[in-house]
Amino acid sequence: MRDLLIRGRVLTFVNEPSGVDDTASYRFFEDGAVLVRGAAIVASGDYDRVKSLAAADVTIDDHRPNLVLPGLIDTHLHFPQTQAIASYGAQLLEWLNTYVFVEEQKFADPLYAASIASRFMDELLSNGTTTAVAYCSVHPESVEAYFMAAEERGMRMIGGKVLMDRNAPEALRDNPQRSYDETTRLITKWHNRGRAHYAISPRFAITSTPEQMEVSRTLVAENPDCYVQTHLSENKDEIAFATSLYPDAVDYTDIYARYGLLGDKTLLGHCIYLDDREISVLAETGAVGVFCPTSNLFLGSGLFDRDRFDRIGARWSVATDVGAGTSFSMLETMDEAYKVLQLQGQRLSPLNSFYRMTLGNARALGLDDRIGSLHAGADADIVVLDSCAKPAMELRMRTVKSLVEELFILQTMADDRCVAEVYVAGNAMKGKARPEAAPTG
Ligand code: GUN
Ligand code: ZN
Repeated sequence: MRDLLIRGRVLTFVNEPSGVDDTASYRFFEDGAVLVRGAAIVASGDYDRVKSLAAADVTIDDHRPNLVLPGLIDTHLHFPQTQAIASYGAQLLEWLNTYVFVEEQKFADPLYAASIASRFMDELLSNGTTTAVAYCSVHPESVEAYFMAAEERGMRMIGGKVLMDRNAPEALRDNPQRSYDETTRLITKWHNRGRAHYAISPRFAITSTPEQMEVSRTLVAENPDCYVQTHLSENKDEIAFATSLYPDAVDYTDIYARYGLLGDKTLLGHCIYLDDREISVLAETGAVGVFCPTSNLFLGSGLFDRDRFDRIGARWSVATDVGAGTSFSMLETMDEAYKVLQLQGQRLSPLNSFYRMTLGNARALGLDDRIGSLHAGADADIVVLDSCAKPAMELRMRTVKSLVEELFILQTMADDRCVAEVYVAGNAMKGKARPEAAPTG
């Protein structure tokens, strides 16, 4: 096993930054390096010190003057919507019925699912995302395709079969027994196999009967180590419909609370219209609200109130939510997050953006011992970012005097062209996109 030394301007966070001056929240090495042995990081820091720890025949990947960071993390998106991104003109419920529930039916075909899974993983990697949490379709075949494609690339990925047994086309509905049997079988096969983690995934209250919610409760109780993901309080029509289906619940959050679905491994997409009581329930249970800015703007859903989450002490993470989200790029996502918060008079510092895409999201997943930073012993999932990749960026960068300014330019102007390299478990992945498994469409 040959040592690999990744040289560049190394940046990694150790804590949540409190503002643009919080230099204690990160470690930055202008001439830095990360030493990788096999799939793990052995050391990171100043180049000279780290080089002295490497074997004599070390391979050196010199990325100067690019930035070297932990791989980016996306905490919510939909793998079967890869080909439904940019579907025009509707808000949530109409958009689901018009586009998404049509597209997701194609995932009954394992060849189609495999083809899209391959493209999906490559798209994540070309945007610098090395770990993501995705919904698959209702078909177990889609979960097989998803985890196979992740395993082929060595990626740490979280996902699961969506549970839905009403308010969707017949071809996308399972039933309580089938959702229990299929999910249990998939957990047995995939959870903690290599770098895979399973997420029990009732889509949202609208598409699950009370009987299926009971099944979800059982699945969570029987598999406490698995993640749970669902959608909460994204759109006003959705909230009215969901609460009408569960008249005994005091509010939308209470629907999930009643079925035992809220805990510190629960990821709740959107959380836009929660009141203080609901956010307090999230804070008490440790459940994470997932901020999906490009999606919330694209569907006209509303604005995530980050300051209220912080004031009440509830956890939150950031995500693309492709295909309502309009980009696979976490950098573009943070650009839109900044604007969503601006509209509410809230501020997102560039340091906080980069913390959120890395260590912050790793903490939200309880995976910060493995991913999200460059500490010794962590997985060698690493991204290399070029702040001058586009002519307009190169021009703007000439005026830059600080790291914080550079990060803000990256967040505001970057796209996948700025991802100079991405390493998964120590392997350089750029330019290694797999050929499609089968024709698509
Ligand atoms: N709510 C339930 N399903 C979905 C979905 O696929 N996308 C979004 N944005 N919201 C949802
Ligand atoms: Zn979603």
